[in-house]
Amino acid sequence: MKQNIINARVTFRKSPIHVLEKFAFKDMPNAYLTFKKNSSVSECVIIQTCNRIELFATSDNHNVDEIKNIWASLTGLEDNAFRDTLEVCENRDAYEHLLKLTSGLESLVVGEEQILGQIKESISAARKVDASGKRLNKLFERSIRIGTRIRNSTGIGRGGISLGSMAVKLAEENVDDIKSKHVLLIGTGEAATMVAKSLKKRGYAFNVTSRTLERSVGFSQTLGGKPVKFEDVLTGFSDYEIIFVATTAPYFLVTFEKMKDAMKDKSGTMILDLSNPRTVDEKVATIPGIKLMNIDQIAEMVDKNMKNRKDKVSTVENIISEEVPIIEATMKRLDAEPLVKDVFTNADSLRIKELQKALQMLGETDEERIRIIDDLTKAVVESIVSTPMNNLRKASEQGNPDLLDIASKLFVYKKKE
Ligand SMILES: NC(=O)c1ccc[n+]([C@@H]2O[C@H](COP(=O)([O-])OP(=O)(O)OC[C@H]3O[C@@H](n4cnc5c(N)ncnc54)[C@H](OP(=O)(O)O)[C@@H]3O)[C@@H](O)[C@H]2O)c1
Repeated sequence: MKQNIINARVTFRKSPIHVLEKFAFKDMPNAYLTFKKNSSVSECVIIQTCNRIELFATSDNHNVDEIKNIWASLTGLEDNAFRDTLEVCENRDAYEHLLKLTSGLESLVVGEEQILGQIKESISAARKVDASGKRLNKLFERSIRIGTRIRNSTGIGRGGISLGSMAVKLAEENVDDIKSKHVLLIGTGEAATMVAKSLKKRGYAFNVTSRTLERSVGFSQTLGGKPVKFEDVLTGFSDYEIIFVATTAPYFLVTFEKMKDAMKDKSGTMILDLSNPRTVDEKVATIPGIKLMNIDQIAEMVDKNMKNRKDKVSTVENIISEEVPIIEATMKRLDAEPLVKDVFTNADSLRIKELQKALQMLGETDEERIRIIDDLTKAVVESIVSTPMNNLRKASEQGNPDLLDIASKLFVYKKKE
């Protein structure tokens, strides 16, 4: 009857970011369905971002190999791909991990805000397809609330620098007088927006491009930059001294050959690839005059700049260590709820059956009298059942599953979950 909460994850901590994508579930509804149908998992929530793929699940009899095998079959990976990358924890450790996620401690950039929104989206997507149930819904709802409170009270997310601003800062550090240089931004999504905001704030002119010209036009109207045709850009890298690339293209947009051509009559170009997986071939860094920085290097610099946030880490950890036992008690208490609900429902249906029999025998039709007798039967049932049920909840909260097992036998409870 005791349900364990399990967390199985592959994150940037154990895998290079550009490899992580291989562990991602391409068809999320199918992943949910497969985990629930083919394993002992009864509820699950998947969190999938460019830095992590995480499964939270409930099970009364879980088996890590089973989870790993399903994950491997859904992603087409070999089992051994998980050998050094998969991290697994359960119950108390899983609650702590989720709180670290919602408060930003687990992020590549400590305290970053985006993960909280991604977790909210993950639980609501899981709810929509009924993949999560009352345990994970409760756990996520609590953890999101605590994470938000921690962020507000400690300011862990304040005083940092965004990836976009860091990319521009790195360009400033490596290229003299950016104002006199030609700057190109490839991409019009979220990451490109961060770069554009920073360029605009510092007054640097830039060209922007996206596969669809309308998208670059719309982007430039709100975020600045001059829209240019994608096809022209791909054949004209020689026009630029600084190139920011932030797309989800599944292949190299900036190739060795194109850059070799582009560098024929030029002395230097700096390329900052924010994409994961890479959209700039690392080999271009071997071309004389090219300085290439990829997302891992940019993120590392962001991390170093996070002193203010890092100073707050121990405060956040202290709050988390106070919250974990409270969540643990709540989750344990939930173990008793199906039985408690069942006992109350059965007792009430017996009450109604006997009440109706008695009313029939009495031939009672007076509404006021019927109400008094009805209230009386309710009060009797309530006073008999409440105390043992509250004791059962308490026992469950204090981690005493034996009492639950005994009570299940006594009340002939059959698990319905
Ligand atoms: N968002 C973040 O906070 C963040 C942080 C770190 C790193 N990153 C990385 O940055 C990259 C972009 O992420 P994002 O969040 O900005 O994504 P996004 O909002 O979905 O935007 C995707 C961009 O990629 C372009 N694109 C997609 N397929 C393409 C293709 N085949 N050829 C050329 N362009 C293509 C899209 O332009 P069209 O629609 O015009 O094709 C769009 O500009 C990703 O690799 C991501 O891992 C993002």
